[in-house]
Amino acid sequence: MKKDLLNIYDLEPADFDIIWKKAQKLKTSLKEGRSHTSLKGKTLGMIFDKSSTRTRISFEVGMYQLGGIALFLNSRDTQIGRGESISDSAQMMSRYLNGIMIRTFSQKSVEDFARWASIPVINGLTDLLHPCQILSDLFTIKEKKGSYNKLKIAYIGDGNNIANSWIEAAARLPIQLSLACPDGYDPDAKIMAKGKKEAKEGITLYRDPFEAVKKADVLYTDVWVSMGQESEDKERKKIFKNYQINKKLLKEAKKDAIVMHCLPAHRGEEISADVIDGSQSVVIDQAENRLHVQKAVLEILL
Ligand code: CP
Ligand code: NVA
Repeated sequence: MKKDLLNIYDLEPADFDIIWKKAQKLKTSLKEGRSHTSLKGKTLGMIFDKSSTRTRISFEVGMYQLGGIALFLNSRDTQIGRGESISDSAQMMSRYLNGIMIRTFSQKSVEDFARWASIPVINGLTDLLHPCQILSDLFTIKEKKGSYNKLKIAYIGDGNNIANSWIEAAARLPIQLSLACPDGYDPDAKIMAKGKKEAKEGITLYRDPFEAVKKADVLYTDVWVSMGQESEDKERKKIFKNYQINKKLLKEAKKDAIVMHCLPAHRGEEISADVIDGSQSVVIDQAENRLHVQKAVLEILL
């Protein structure tokens, strides 16, 4: 039976270790110049309803490196953009392709697509979730810290797709998650309730970022204004102004804490320039790992 990656819960606890091992192997092979073409002749369709730099490049290059090809499908240029139904699109595309990656607004659209498709569907970001990002982030934490077990990860900012996927990760893996979000900008209530119930090491939501980052091993943030929220820009910048990762906040974390951001970043907003460009920041390694981890995911699903 085909397997999708629509959220972190699509992965069984044992799947994570398989992904880390594969990603590490693929990363090492690439660095040593050995080719690894396990997906020779395979095709991935990539439907984009929103902008992307990392997701597009890492999936496209990843498929190429694995011996397959990726097709960039801007939904505006396809019949999807002119109203062709999800059911027809998904069934028909399943006859051409071996897998589909979708970046869009509604999580339901990705789920509907997956229901109709007979090939694996990968969520490349929705308003609700961004599972590929959090998988790469976990791999990066493992690389930098040896393990993520029992580590405290503090997420500061908007209760958005990144925050929601972190909550799902904390429900599946032994990480301690603390979040600080302003009132009214909490993570999704359903995801939070399920996450709290299933969390291995606890999930705590604070209002005060200083509380949330106390003795944290990882400080994480994301933009205050996500794609699709541009009209709220002014208001959000006011509301989030105390939710910045900066030197003062970093002092509350452990001395050897690492700083993460899924990127794109806005220096001077959710993170100060001296911190994102400082010695504790791992954001570029984090972005690189999208490639290796997604290649592992593609190998498994396709
Ligand atoms: N982090 C991330 O998904 O980046 P892009 O929006 O550039 O794909
Ligand atoms: N929360 C951001 C993540 C971008 C990778 C957004 O949805 O725009």
